Amino acid sequence: MEDLGDITWPPEPIRTERLVLRAPEARDRTAFIDLLASAEVHAYLGGPRARDELERGTPAVPEAWPGSFVVDRDGSMIGQILLRRATGHRRPAATGKADLGYLFLPGAWGHGYAAEACAAALSWFDGAVPGEPVVLTTQSANGRSMRLAAKLGFTEVERFEAWGAEQWLGMRTPVTAAG
Ligand SMILES: CC(C)(COP(=O)(O)OP(=O)(O)OC[C@H]1O[C@@H](n2cnc3c(N)ncnc32)[C@H](O)[C@@H]1OP(=O)(O)O)[C@@H](O)C(=O)NCCC(=O)NCCS
Repeated sequence: MEDLGDITWPPEPIRTERLVLRAPEARDRTAFIDLLASAEVHAYLGGPRARDELERGTPAVPEAWPGSFVVDRDGSMIGQILLRRATGHRRPAATGKADLGYLFLPGAWGHGYAAEACAAALSWFDGAVPGEPVVLTTQSANGRSMRLAAKLGFTEVERFEAWGAEQWLGMRTPVTAAG
């Protein structure tokens, strides 16, 4: 994976009804560590990372690169949205395409925040990089993620075995003026 590269970054904070999407800041460091150390968050993502290793290795401003959004609710980070370039994707249909990822702290699940934030990020992407599809890979056993992908308009390209589980590759075609 590579970052989105040559785009205007960061954009002005993106405001939705309940949330703000913005670039990571130093005040998000603890929430980033909580996110990456959470066994619940990483149940379908190969397992969490060790907290002490994260405490040592996380930079003062974590994950600050083009395409990494913090999702902020009432001034605190509740999740992260990643839009990256899937340069090394193992499936040819996804190689080199923009790739959506999302990670929310378990306390923020079940409120529609991920759907609200991802829709706003995709809308931003449509404006910043017009005409490009977006791909998404998730374990098919990850029910919450599968439901979210469908809500966001991703449709199945294929399923494949990797990392010891069945993976679902979905794609969202860009929204055009013609609809
Ligand atoms: C995947 C993930 C982001 C989904 O989070 P989520 O909160 O379930 O997703 P949504 O924002 O779509 O919220 C949907 C839920 O909010 C509920 N909800 C409550 N109020 C709502 C509102 N105002 N609007 C919309 N939905 C609302 C819905 O009923 C639904 O609940 P249900 O699933 O129990 O039926 C989250 O589980 C997560 O971070 N998982 C770990 C990381 C991961 O696996 N990522 C996938 C690979 S990148």
